[in-house]
Amino acid sequence: MAQQVEAFCKNLEGKNISFLDMGCGTGILSEAAIRAGIPREKVMAVDIDEEAVSYVKNKGINAKVSDLFSNLGDEKFDLIVFNPPYLPASRYDRAKDTTGGKYGDETILRFLRQAKKYLSENGKILLLLSSLTPKTRIERLLKSQGLKLRKLSEKKLFFETLSIWLISHT
Ligand SMILES: C[S@@+](CC[C@H](N)C(=O)[O-])C[C@H]1O[C@@H](n2cnc3c(N)ncnc32)[C@H](O)[C@@H]1O
Repeated sequence: MAQQVEAFCKNLEGKNISFLDMGCGTGILSEAAIRAGIPREKVMAVDIDEEAVSYVKNKGINAKVSDLFSNLGDEKFDLIVFNPPYLPASRYDRAKDTTGGKYGDETILRFLRQAKKYLSENGKILLLLSSLTPKTRIERLLKSQGLKLRKLSEKKLFFETLSIWLISHT
């Protein structure tokens, strides 16, 4: 995901874009964007986990505790990136950084229901999905919002395939 975010940002015509790192964790995606030339002051990182947020703040990156968009006011972003918790809940893994609800798509669906309001006119989303994440409800929701979904890349790992999707108005 970090490689994809860096490559995507490097290819942007203008680098002066507002960038949101949703579920920032250690801030690896914010760092990829900054490396690619997005101005640090245009980067905002949020996470539901306070420890993650203070870790990212210590790296000199703007960061806030937020349950998805709840603490972002009326801000709009040109690019939102999200490596979400996407695994279906299991008795082996209930951690909020990996488990996306009973079926695995719940946090993603909640994110997508809110995201359109926080996108600028030509705003885009880069979203990581796994072959373990059910896609039907995600595709149906995006269609109902008039948003397009296009696969940018795919990587096979030993028990799943990860893919990066571009979501945009056109
Ligand atoms: C798979 S990790 C990704 C971390 C980092 N962005 C990366 O790519 O390595 C998912 C992150 O989403 C955060 N998260 C989970 N639910 C969230 C929510 N409702 N609002 C904001 N962040 C959330 C977790 O705390 C975790 O840091």
